[in-house]
Parts: sequence; C-alpha cells; structure tokens
Amino acid sequence: MEELTADTITLEVLQEARETVTRSPLGVINTPMIPWCQTTLPLPQPCNVYLKLENMQKTGSFKLRGVANQFSRRPKAGHFVTMSAGNYGKSFAYASKHYGTKGKVVMPDTAPISRSLLIQTFGIEVERVPTSRVLNVVDRCVQEDNMTFMHSYNDPDLIAGHASLGFEILEVVPDPDVVVVCCGGGGLLAGVAASLKLSGCEKTRIYGVEPDGACTMYRSFIEKKPVGMDSKSIASGLAPPFAGALPYALCRKYVAEIVLVTEEEIKSAVSTLYNTGLVVEPSGCAAFAALVNGKIPDVTGKKVVVILSGGNIGKDELANFPD
Ligand SMILES: Cc1ncc(COP(=O)(O)O)c(C=O)c1O
Repeated sequence: MEELTADTITLEVLQEARETVTRSPLGVINTPMIPWCQTTLPLPQPCNVYLKLENMQKTGSFKLRGVANQFSRRPKAGHFVTMSAGNYGKSFAYASKHYGTKGKVVMPDTAPISRSLLIQTFGIEVERVPTSRVLNVVDRCVQEDNMTFMHSYNDPDLIAGHASLGFEILEVVPDPDVVVVCCGGGGLLAGVAASLKLSGCEKTRIYGVEPDGACTMYRSFIEKKPVGMDSKSIASGLAPPFAGALPYALCRKYVAEIVLVTEEEIKSAVSTLYNTGLVVEPSGCAAFAALVNGKIPDVTGKKVVVILSGGNIGKDELANFPD
C-alpha cells in the first residue's frame, strides 16, 4: 500500500475515511455543535461561537474517529502496541475488544491510575513506565515481542479518520471564519485543517492551541521542522514529547498559527465550562481557553468554531480546579 504523505492526503482520501468512520461498527457519533450563549461569559471580542462537543463522543474523545479508520485498515489478527496517556489508549482498547485483537498500551507513569484500570477492563495489557522510557519500551515490544506499533498521532489513517470532524463542522457551519483546535502531537489539528482547506474553505483561519509548557508544534513552526521538548502540562494529552512529522507537514500547509495558553488559563476554562454544564478535561479545553483569553486574533463579529476535544475527567480530578 502506498504511504500517505502531506501531498497524498487528498480530499478523496479524507472523504473515503469519513465514510469508513460513519459506517464503523465502533459506533462513532456525529457529535452536537451548539452555539455558545455569550450572556454567560463576556468574550474579550464579541463573536459567534460554536462549540463542537467532542467530549460527548463515544469513549469520551475524538480519538475514536481516527482509531475507527486505523483499525479498518489493519489486519484483524494482529498484536498491537501503542503509547498513550489515556484517550488514545481508551479508544484503542475499545476497538481491540470489538475486533478481538490483542493489544498493549505503554503509559507514562504520570497518567492517572484510573485510566490504566479502565483500559485493562477491555482486556488490554498496560505497562506504566517513566515518560522518558515510553519509546524504548514500545521499541522492545516491537523488536522482541513482535507486536505492531500503532501511533497515537503520527499516522495517516488516524489523521484521515480525524478529518471526519472537519466535514461534520461544515455541515452545520459551511463557512466558518475561524476554527480553533487543541494540539498535542498534531493529529487532530492536521486532520481537521486538511478537511476544511481541501473542502474549499480558503478564507477560514485555523488555529492550533498548545499549553506553553508543552509547545512542540509551536516550536516546530519556528524551527521549520518537527521538534521535541521535555513537555509538561496538566493537559497530559497535549504534552507528547514530539510533534508528529506528518501532522507537522499538514499543519504547515493548512494552519494559520499555533497559539499558547498557560496552565492557569486551562484550569479556569475547565471550571468555566463545568459551570455551564459541560464536562471537559484540560486537554479538551485549551482551544476554548485560547478564545476566552483573547489569544485568537481578529474574531470580532466572526463565526468561530471551537472544538471541545475530550471529556475524560473524574470527580476527583475536577476537585483540583478553581470554582
Ligand atoms: C482531549 C484531547 N484533545 C486533544 C488531543 C491532541 O491530539 P493530537 O495528539 O492528535 O494533537 C488529545 C491527545 O491525546 C486529547 O486527549
């Protein structure tokens, strides 16, 4: 099979992936998009905000979209290994159970223990190791135990599956002026940006948002190549050690800018959304945090779509956030 690159990710490839995601036996949901009621929160610049509620997606995050496409293109009798702080691992585990494939998730030992337990309930093995050793352990599983690696962000099939989110946005708001997306390794941002731009949204400005302590894509834009750093953030899903090479190439092509938010801004966004009835985890609310803190330029009077990308947060974790 031909390897997909930034240039071979065409509209047809993404549309085909969307069909796969829509028809997937994993039951991916076309999530609601709701207008943000501005009377509850004055925005720094008044604009028409639409929230795409991917926190209500099956498994609690957008990751299932990419996983649905990834699994549809893998042999059904494999033994797979991945690395994940939680959300990809959860979707991977759910899909593995559905397809009856064997799987293992290598997790940084900073991830909440509840995430490991949940993944294990799907019959998937979990190995918790210090963040610096995650890649080595995955390597060992591939070299010595003959497992096949499935990447949680740097994978063309995964990115093409995430693009289904962009097509759904256009069905509700066909001509968004601005779309704001949380960014970790960049798979989600790349997929959404590619689907919008290839669908003809030439004028739409697409922004990626990263925590300031985990800004690999931001630095990659500056250094003009995908780079890594010692990432740290309360938004663990947005803090992988490297920006993905394929996500980077797609983001350079289709994304206007990467903006940064602080840990305090992320925490306060979790609380703001919770107080309006929306349970969103730190990794899922960075895009919202950027908008309400005036980090997205020129939004006055514009149609702005913000993706709330995940809602996997427990009561215990929520207790750590301001009222
Ligand atoms: C809720 C949430 N949003 C966004 C992201 C970032 O996704 P990506 O690594 O594709 O940039 C993640 C990654 O785990 C996540 O869990």
